[in-house]
Amino acid sequence: MKAYPYQISSLSEYQDAYQQSMENPAQFWAHIAEHFHWHKKWTPGAELNWNFSEPKVEWFKGAQLNITENLLDRHLADKAHHPALLWEPNAPDEAGRLLTYKKLYEKVCQFAHVLKNNGVQKGDRVCIYMGMIPELAIAVLACARIGAIHSVVFGGFSAQSIADRLYDAQATFIITCDGAYRGAKDIPLKSVIDDALIGNHVVEKVIVCTRTRTPVSMLKGRDLWWEDEMQRVEEMGLTDFPAEPMDAEDPLFILYTSGSTGKPKGVVHTVAGYLLYTHYTFVNVFQYQPGWVHFCTADIGWITGHSYIVYGPLSAGATSLLFEGVPTFPDAGRFWDIVDKYKVNILYTAPTAIRSLMGFGLGPVQGKNLSSLKVLGTVGEPINEEAWHWYDQHIGKGKCPIVDTWWQTETGGCLISNLAGITPAKPGWATLPMPGVKLLLVDENGKEVVAQGEETVSGNLCIAAPWPAILRTTYGDHQRCRTNYFAAYPDLYFTGDGALRDKDGNYRITGRVDDVLNVSGHRIGTAEVENAINMHAGVVESAVVGYPHEVKGQGIYAYVIYQGSHAQDTHGSGDLVRKDILQTVTRIIGAIAKPDKIQFVSGLPKTRSGKIMRRILRKIAEGETDQLGDTSTLLDPGVVDEIKRGRV
Ligand code: WT7
Repeated sequence: MKAYPYQISSLSEYQDAYQQSMENPAQFWAHIAEHFHWHKKWTPGAELNWNFSEPKVEWFKGAQLNITENLLDRHLADKAHHPALLWEPNAPDEAGRLLTYKKLYEKVCQFAHVLKNNGVQKGDRVCIYMGMIPELAIAVLACARIGAIHSVVFGGFSAQSIADRLYDAQATFIITCDGAYRGAKDIPLKSVIDDALIGNHVVEKVIVCTRTRTPVSMLKGRDLWWEDEMQRVEEMGLTDFPAEPMDAEDPLFILYTSGSTGKPKGVVHTVAGYLLYTHYTFVNVFQYQPGWVHFCTADIGWITGHSYIVYGPLSAGATSLLFEGVPTFPDAGRFWDIVDKYKVNILYTAPTAIRSLMGFGLGPVQGKNLSSLKVLGTVGEPINEEAWHWYDQHIGKGKCPIVDTWWQTETGGCLISNLAGITPAKPGWATLPMPGVKLLLVDENGKEVVAQGEETVSGNLCIAAPWPAILRTTYGDHQRCRTNYFAAYPDLYFTGDGALRDKDGNYRITGRVDDVLNVSGHRIGTAEVENAINMHAGVVESAVVGYPHEVKGQGIYAYVIYQGSHAQDTHGSGDLVRKDILQTVTRIIGAIAKPDKIQFVSGLPKTRSGKIMRRILRKIAEGETDQLGDTSTLLDPGVVDEIKRGRV
């Protein structure tokens, strides 16, 4: 029996669903939407309205619902005492927590009261900067319950990054923690927020949840303790909160992500389409079965955590495991201990984590009972075959299908993936599009690439029609959304990725074709890193490129012209100046954007019109110093030899 009526259970069912979704997308998604709880249904015939030239995409506009009723209330009848969230703390000797659907429902309702009591209203932007504790999910869902727009910022971003995001979203409210535990580290989140708020006159209140009990400064009138606020609501005996009816197209959240410009973009997702699509992909890609425990190792600060820790799993009434720590603390067996302890059925992680754990050998896997595993998944970057086979053999023991899920912050949910055990896997290939996803490859001129016979073709990956969870806009700047995603090729959404397609229609993602890096599955714009480096006193100019990195997938290589104090050091080892620059990048963006390598140079290879020839810099960083191609158009070809000699 199918766990969900629309759960695809054979290859031919997939083919049928795909065909139906292409022939009549509105009807296809309306059939799925019927299964949700709506305050007001859509007008038949008005399910979908779109054009990619503005762009405008509206799914079920005019219909009304609240996403939390579909995640929580809907499951209270039959799953009230079923675990919704399991929580594993950073330290293995600390007790974990279990929140049933009823408990989670009550906490979300209570925190919705807290938000309301403090003046948060529908449409307000609430910034959430917390560690991976259940209260993070509660905060997210409480925002959704009252219709406030959440903007979760990953706990690794700096005060400056938070300040930029607060300003861009004009956020009036922050939810944070005193601190967060991550491996052996204790990150002072509230203190970072305090720095981010210097000079900010828009944020009215900051709610601080206790986790590490690190000393924090609490400003009277602005800062409140989560526990005090919750206690007040509990004492009033409140356990319900009427869900705000939202238009299907009202914004649900903003999530900032990097692009090829220096400034991150606030990707906006809306209520109904995001619910439908994360739900549908969750039950189909992972083939979720009732009672299973789903463990997605991402942080809720990234889209993967939004879609496949919180929204997708809860929409399906699943049990979602939230892990506070890191894969290598206290040792490299932590994931396997967690799988063993909670009898995890689905493990969804990033290739970078697999490669890093592979490096510790089989010791940490031995003696761990992984027999509960049914499905494995990867996300965030291409997976190399070696890592794929290691995952298959040593974790899945050769009996768990592996889904390689390709998607983006902008796509809301998986767009290309095999369906676990249903459609064929192909190591290194994300394989087939989900129903509703109309892919095509184009060349640089926007001309569709069509295979001659059985050849495998390559091109820039585009999408020709909207799926329900496509981004609607970039917050506060719709034009930017258009130029970034819909202007490269008329009437197409351009993903920024290159891809191959084989004769069977399988896709293999080859990586970004723009100036965006993928470091450990995290997206980082080269321009952003350059801006940060250039803010360091003494830096005249810099150019950042990616290079292949064994564990991270890509590493960050920075070429820097430096003429500041201690410049003489850069003729020797330059290590101290390097450290200064890293410190600046950490301050401006966060530790995740720190270059792995910094090479001091006296000039950069530029064309006569002053454009940096990144192709040459990429080749040198990759170690391909012999095949630099044509350098004759350079203003000063001599600089290339110097750069080659000084490679680090
Ligand atoms: C970029 C999106 C989707 C959540 C995590 C990253 C790369 C993502 C795969 C995959 C090859 C992948 C692409 C994409 N990417 N998944 N399975 N195979 N590449 O989200 O930060 O928005 O980054 O990650 O380059 O464009 P993101």
